[in-house]
Amino acid sequence: MRELELTSPVTSGHVPVLIEEVIHALAPTDGAIMVDGTYGGGGYARAALAVANITLIGIDRDPEAMERAWAHAGKDPRLVPAPGRFGELEAIVHAAGRGDKVDGVMLDLGVSSFQIDEAGRGFSFMRDGPLDMRMEKKGPSAADAVNHLTEGELADIFHILGEEPAARRVARGIVYRRKIQKFQTTLELAECIERSLGGRRGKPTHPATRCFQALRMWVNDETGELVRSLAAAERVLKPGGRLVVVTFHSIEDRIVKLFLRARSGNEPGASRHLPGAPKGKTPTFEVLQRKAIEPGEAELEANPRSRSARLRWALRTEAPSWDAPPDEGFRLPGLKQLEGVA
Ligand SMILES: C[S@@+](CC[C@H](N)C(=O)[O-])C[C@H]1O[C@@H](n2cnc3c(N)ncnc32)[C@H](O)[C@@H]1O
Repeated sequence: MRELELTSPVTSGHVPVLIEEVIHALAPTDGAIMVDGTYGGGGYARAALAVANITLIGIDRDPEAMERAWAHAGKDPRLVPAPGRFGELEAIVHAAGRGDKVDGVMLDLGVSSFQIDEAGRGFSFMRDGPLDMRMEKKGPSAADAVNHLTEGELADIFHILGEEPAARRVARGIVYRRKIQKFQTTLELAECIERSLGGRRGKPTHPATRCFQALRMWVNDETGELVRSLAAAERVLKPGGRLVVVTFHSIEDRIVKLFLRARSGNEPGASRHLPGAPKGKTPTFEVLQRKAIEPGEAELEANPRSRSARLRWALRTEAPSWDAPPDEGFRLPGLKQLEGVA
């Protein structure tokens, strides 16, 4: 593995987080087959391809990210663009035709700056646009959710995924407002949430921050995707292969932590939301660094978006995979009602 030179621009539009630490944990070596499950702006991909002569399967569910991946692959044929969700990692790896097993999987969860910064994608409460938030541009949108879910379901989403203390008040405000007029735009929702929470009152962050993040996670089933991807990574990694995950949300970090704790034999650890940890199973992962890696001060200063990033990684052992997780993952109630709406 060659040294990563960060002086060369790794990407434009999205500043990759914890990039040195990710590449160090992934440790690409010549001839390896690796997966970037979240191609995004291609920052991690470029860095991994720069340090070793690898084949990299670049996955993203966002068609716009895949356009960037195809452009990149035109210049570097070692990159194999593979549109889809990382929850379907195993099928995607098989379809990529580079063998059934890989040497490394990296995931950089959440959204890219490309997505947040484009008003038309509807992710941001700072930019007026259609209330969309769908990374894949299909399925029920954020507008469908706020216009059709029950008050209780919305409150659960804001409470569980957003950790919003006033979740119920926000849900009530949304249901009241939509009786008068349905939501269409990001700013309509941001204003309604702000009003429900009693305005800004000198708060350092926008009052809609938590609820917007929660809705985005729900619309894209982000926790369900993560749960499925961890179990899929267990199945596709070769012995000695590396799993590297960067999260930006405490729930996601907890999912990764509990999965690795259970799979490395350090926990009885089974939970309703996680792949089970039946007794008597041989550990499928070895965790060399228990504590999550966090950005240092220099990175925090240069890129405030990195403040909630946590990196965890582990080595695949030779043990056979455990049972797959329940497909439902961490999904909240309510999606059924939206089927057929969009
Ligand atoms: C934080 S960005 C990745 C940035 C990338 N590491 C870089 O350096 O440019 C996350 C990306 O993951 C994609 N993504 C999120 N969930 C996904 C999923 N379940 N399957 C595939 N891609 C996903 C998003 O569309 C977004 O492009």
